Amino acid sequence: MGRIDRLLAAMTLDEKIGQLNMAAGSRVVTGPGARRDVEEGIRSGRIGNLLNVWGGKEVHAVQHLAVEQSRLGIPLLIGLDVMHGHRTIFPVPLAEAGLFDPATWERTARIAAKEAGADGVALTFAPMVDVARDPRWGRMVESPGEDPWVAAEFAAAKIRGFQGRDLQEAASIAVTTKHLCGYGAVSAGREYASVDVSERTLHEVHLPPFATAVSAGTAAIMPAFIDIAGVPMTANAPLLQGWLRGMHAFDGVLISDYNAIAELCNHGVASDTAEAAALALRAGVDVDMASEAYVQGLPEALRRGLVGMAELDASVSRVLTLKERLGLFDDPYRRGAAGHTVSARRTATARQLARETARRAIVLLTHRHGVLPIAPGARHIAVVGPLASARHEMLGPWPSAGRADEAVSIVEGLQKALPNCRIDHLAGAGTAATKRSAISAAVESCRAAELAILCLGEDVSMSGEGGSRADLGLPDGQRTLAEAILELGKPVIVLLTSGRPLTVPWLFERADAVLATWFLGSEAGNAIADVLTGKFNPTGKLPVTWPRAVGQVPLFYGQRPSGRPAKPGERLSSCYLDIPATPQFAFGHGLSYASFTLAELRCTPAVARADESIKVTVAVHNHSAIAGEATLFLFVRDVVASVARPVLELKGARRIALEPGARGTLRWQLPVASLAFVGADLGLVLEPGRFEIHVGHSADPGELISCNLEVSS
Ligand code: GLC
Repeated sequence: MGRIDRLLAAMTLDEKIGQLNMAAGSRVVTGPGARRDVEEGIRSGRIGNLLNVWGGKEVHAVQHLAVEQSRLGIPLLIGLDVMHGHRTIFPVPLAEAGLFDPATWERTARIAAKEAGADGVALTFAPMVDVARDPRWGRMVESPGEDPWVAAEFAAAKIRGFQGRDLQEAASIAVTTKHLCGYGAVSAGREYASVDVSERTLHEVHLPPFATAVSAGTAAIMPAFIDIAGVPMTANAPLLQGWLRGMHAFDGVLISDYNAIAELCNHGVASDTAEAAALALRAGVDVDMASEAYVQGLPEALRRGLVGMAELDASVSRVLTLKERLGLFDDPYRRGAAGHTVSARRTATARQLARETARRAIVLLTHRHGVLPIAPGARHIAVVGPLASARHEMLGPWPSAGRADEAVSIVEGLQKALPNCRIDHLAGAGTAATKRSAISAAVESCRAAELAILCLGEDVSMSGEGGSRADLGLPDGQRTLAEAILELGKPVIVLLTSGRPLTVPWLFERADAVLATWFLGSEAGNAIADVLTGKFNPTGKLPVTWPRAVGQVPLFYGQRPSGRPAKPGERLSSCYLDIPATPQFAFGHGLSYASFTLAELRCTPAVARADESIKVTVAVHNHSAIAGEATLFLFVRDVVASVARPVLELKGARRIALEPGARGTLRWQLPVASLAFVGADLGLVLEPGRFEIHVGHSADPGELISCNLEVSS
């Protein structure tokens, strides 16, 4: 009999339920409710897992209670939100997605795993792969954006990075891919609100990244807080047991979101804790995060016959199996051991990757009059705005063990990059409230300078969980500051720090350049300076469509055509009376200091069968005097099908670096089978007929070149 069966045979009911209980530590607070004393719970076996604890000493202290002082000595599973870095913080996922580079996505996760493992963490609640198409929703910042193919690629890369080759290693941590599913489609972008999407959208958009995560070996999955059409994901047996554990054979651990099991009573699907616990357990949720619903409700649920011991044992077995896979039984002190601390050399390597990733995540949205790069001989620059000297903000809403005093602010980055330039810095405004006197002083500072750099946007409280916003503009004080400085007629460069697109058309019209700098992490200031001074030619691209106004939301490139596609000036077409139906910036938008032209798009063979692959090639020419890198996207369109298909579907993204005047060719190999779609019966179907192949710098129709493909029956 193996270890797990032996333990199951020896465990009391309370000890079994304890293995399904994850209590909250207090190094960081990520959910509601009081934190209880965990020590007695660990000793008694009532707490088998913890979250929000890190640090070798702290972790070993609680592991000691479990391993040396509890009756069966079962080690704790320690989890933390290591989203985009642990001590070294990388750009937030929405920013990192803009690299369209799975190799880098994997590398940053690998470093985060090493740093977190060295701090005793064995499990991360990441990657978050919710497809997000509504920037009113604060958690768009945590997502890889609007596209399911990108989200799937992101999931696979992060799972490879975090889990490494062997989960037994201290430098590997188990992932919890989250939040299954549809959380990005909350009604009106309001946090935790109901989700009502069609079965088609569920299967075409929101589920695919999780199917990829299962194939990539995700150790755990977290259901979302929300209900889909009235069925809370935490109790959604058809999706969790049917689609996930049945159709996709997921045998890993399901960890509820924070307090979510108890909140089934708030959803109105359970009348008490016992019913809530029974619903979740029957749906296959193994671990109760922070609500104590399992501890308080399962004994009663068993007495009432709402659940059976077999269901309980199955969940306990999955949790113990994960602990075994992590090597926790063999050496519960391996993670966080003194011999596994992160060396200074490794930290330096991590910081260099953080800087490289951050500068590649910056998106040059607009650029006029050649105002960038800043001339090396610049003598006097004014840097103003509430984010100019901010360090904590650069770490984003999920900073794990990141420290503000280790982050580089925008001003600091510029001062280091331009040592001979006078750089005056004034906040001029707060992110929310502002004094007129502060604005006047900032305006005077800009009046005297040859160039103004405006650092505007959101602080971290305006983004992330609980960060839904109904207005996506800049708070009044920031707009007043910006307009006063724009009135000076000086060159103005704007840096937008945010976790989402901001609807500021007036800024795009008037500033000389605007860059989306998101929340770039520990090396933010250096990365921004690298781009502004031309040390790095920007390559970042938008992983989300950027709306002109919040009234357009949800707005994404993969819309279906409608019977009356938008036609400017045509009232009886899919458009608005007051603004264009097109976005401010398309998915994939991002300027370079260089300029590229595309030509000779080829698809071979031009007629292909379902069991074949096609080769798509395109010629790229850098016809500027500066080296640069272009990211190109491969889209397809199924022109006529049994159900209306999106006007564009992303099937690939490739980058090419070219010296001034150089030419190159990009190639894709695409299985025709990948053109299948979710048919009327929700099964995958590939239908013969004409497909359009599009390649371009973004999803903007004006930036695409096209050819045809005939799929033969
Ligand atoms: C939070 C979030 C979830 C996170 C968990 C633990 O409420 O919804 O993404 O992993 O609690 O912090």
